[in-house]
Amino acid sequence: MTAPSTPQGAILVTGAGGLAASAIVRAFVQSGQPVRALVRNPAKAARFAAFPLVEVVEGDMARPETLTRALAGVDRVLLASSPDPHIVETQTAFIDAAAKSGVQHIVKFSGLSAADVDSSFVFADMHAKIEQHLEHSGVGWTHLRPSQFMTEYLREWPTILAQGALFLPLQDARLAPVDVVDVARAARLLLTTPGHAGKTYAMSGPEALSMAEIAERVSDAVGREIRYVAVTREQRKQALLAAGVPPFFVDALDAQAGERLRGAESVVHPETHTALGIRPTTFAEFARRNAGAFLGELAYVGLT
Ligand SMILES: NC(=O)c1ccc[n+]([C@@H]2O[C@H](COP(=O)([O-])OP(=O)(O)OC[C@H]3O[C@@H](n4cnc5c(N)ncnc54)[C@H](OP(=O)(O)O)[C@@H]3O)[C@@H](O)[C@H]2O)c1
Repeated sequence: MTAPSTPQGAILVTGAGGLAASAIVRAFVQSGQPVRALVRNPAKAARFAAFPLVEVVEGDMARPETLTRALAGVDRVLLASSPDPHIVETQTAFIDAAAKSGVQHIVKFSGLSAADVDSSFVFADMHAKIEQHLEHSGVGWTHLRPSQFMTEYLREWPTILAQGALFLPLQDARLAPVDVVDVARAARLLLTTPGHAGKTYAMSGPEALSMAEIAERVSDAVGREIRYVAVTREQRKQALLAAGVPPFFVDALDAQAGERLRGAESVVHPETHTALGIRPTTFAEFARRNAGAFLGELAYVGLT
């Protein structure tokens, strides 16, 4: 195996085949900075083939013996992986391997709910555990805690298309979803500018919106009326199970809905956009950019 071409001081983005981390890699490309992208599935590397600034390496974050090449010469890491039942084992194993390899700083891609110690949402606890592990690892750290991604609403395209409706169990709760593109820009800046060690960055979109307001913005973008229909948590669970979502995730999403109903994510966090000089993308802008995706016609449109 040949040595990686990236010089000392390389930046590694993990989970680069996924939604958030691939947006972070694209943020590096857009700013003309080199980056190394760790993918587990080589098929996911193709998306970076056009970009010589992106060095793609393969490896499994849960298996340190596969990470030698990925970590060689790396001093900063963006840590992200799938929200799956193994996330704690995967990311803590990676942190230990990174510490051993001499990585100086890790930006942990976490979630807003990690701040909520009483949350019943399983990923709140899992991200909090990983953050704590990182803080005790001896590696420098920064926690980036985004709110719900705006892309979550694109999952609802089948009923938006077929029934002109958004069926969610959120009554009149408000949420402040964030554009993943904004979060990716923040992640790049946290990795490439000084002054972020030992700090936590909460980040949401610019408005706390009711689901009726979200439906209005989707309506404006797609050019037809989309209604918000408040369903019960049980109805939502049955719909997700019928759509083939694994029971673990159905239970996690149900607990998350419970937290959202009690207002856990209704607060707007503009401070990270402000501190880093990122203009907050509104939901209306996101919806216009993704009008085709809300109708299932086009793929998600990210960095433009
Ligand atoms: N969705 C939201 O609203 C939201 C809000 C705040 C925070 N978050 C957090 O954001 C993070 C990223 O989410 P996402 O939607 O970007 O995830 P995603 O699209 O599922 O991507 C995760 C990537 O991690 C990779 N991965 C998983 N296990 C790995 C391993 N052992 N070794 C190497 N790669 C591995 C996956 O590789 P494969 O392609 O091989 O499967 C996948 O490409 C999650 O931790 C989530 O909790 C999400």
